[in-house]
Amino acid sequence: MGRGRILVAGGGGIAAYKLPELVRALRGAGHEVRCMLTPAAANFVSALSLGAVSGAPVRQSLLDPGEEGEIGHIELADWADLIVVAPATADLMARMAQGLADDLVTTVLLASRAPVLIAPAMNVHMWEHAATQANLAVLEARGIARVGPEAGELACGWEGLGRMADPETIADEAERLLGAKSLAGERVLITAGGTREPIDAVRAITNRSSGKMGYALAAEAAARGAEVVLVSAPTALRCPAGVRRVSVQTALEMHAAVRDEIAEVGVAICCAAVADFRPAQASERKIKKEDLAPGEGLLLELVPNPDILAEISRDRGARVVVGFAAESHDVVAAARRKLARKGCDLLVANDISREDAGFETDENAVLLVSPTGDVEELPLLPKREVARRVLDRVAKLRDTHGETESS
Ligand code: PMT
Repeated sequence: MGRGRILVAGGGGIAAYKLPELVRALRGAGHEVRCMLTPAAANFVSALSLGAVSGAPVRQSLLDPGEEGEIGHIELADWADLIVVAPATADLMARMAQGLADDLVTTVLLASRAPVLIAPAMNVHMWEHAATQANLAVLEARGIARVGPEAGELACGWEGLGRMADPETIADEAERLLGAKSLAGERVLITAGGTREPIDAVRAITNRSSGKMGYALAAEAAARGAEVVLVSAPTALRCPAGVRRVSVQTALEMHAAVRDEIAEVGVAICCAAVADFRPAQASERKIKKEDLAPGEGLLLELVPNPDILAEISRDRGARVVVGFAAESHDVVAAARRKLARKGCDLLVANDISREDAGFETDENAVLLVSPTGDVEELPLLPKREVARRVLDRVAKLRDTHGETESS
């Protein structure tokens, strides 16, 4: 069985063409997925392609004996751990708000006790219409969760709120609603990305961190019920659903942002690649070759940056603090030395000599090193799965810290 059973209810809007992508994202996260479509949705996406990507027959009709024979509509309603309505059109939202059961989708929604997530998509004026907003208020008052709509250019030609959230965002939100809430009520701070230390108005010292590992940790911590603040150096990534992002550029800015937030958090994970040094003086203007004598080199004086991880480990009290390490050789010995120097509760060590892991890749291979010297070696895994393993360890550490505190 998968990690969760998700029933995708497709509504009749142009955004339904993104449903195969949504199904792929949900299955990629390890969930079992089934789909059902309104009659209108079947005009925008084929049951054949959804059946192929979901690996299960797609239900479309309430009164079809063949379909009911495969899996009855009440069975389908009971099967789901979560129902994702995407796209939630104005019409479908209205019918849900009214409690109608005039087709398969609305009937299953009415018969199910599973939580429901809607991803609205429609013309901006339909979205803003008092009737739609009133229906939305009814649905939200019933506890239905919502992701989007987002602003942008709409299929109808208008600009504004009405685009369906992208499939990955919907999948993240579904994950968050379904996730094992092992970090419920916990406040978690995560640093991510590579800091950027300016040399002049256009140049900077930075590194290859894409932020993917830190963002995967943030998405997973949010999925487990934590309140997450992500202190992020520049990246091209979107902020995961349910996460508060504080954007910074330099190590000094990251240090200040972490200091602002740290008193409130119970878990801190330093995944960012922070520059150890910064130019002593950044020129506000672009440094020009012509300003130097012909053949003259340019000397940069570098000064040390604060060590954020060492500082928060020193003052951690009952807080769980996790560090990362990028090592190119003698990984275990170097990681043990780094853990002792930084004083954190767990060190996640990357062997960055591997081309398939560490910086920029979608997968990572890490060692989890404890202060006792114990080492757990994880195989090459998607960064989201590495995040799960790290957070499993965090949840255990938090429980042990809690016991020590109360004894
Ligand atoms: O972002 P990706 O492309 O997904 O790549 C992920 C990653 C390889 C960047 C990540 O998995 C990782 O290993 N991050 C730590 C990289 C690093 O800078 O390691 P380090 O050995 O220099 O630092 C050790 C630890 O001290 C880290 O937790 C770092 O955040 C922290 N540190 C370092 C210097 C400093 N001034 N302050 C810090 O807090």
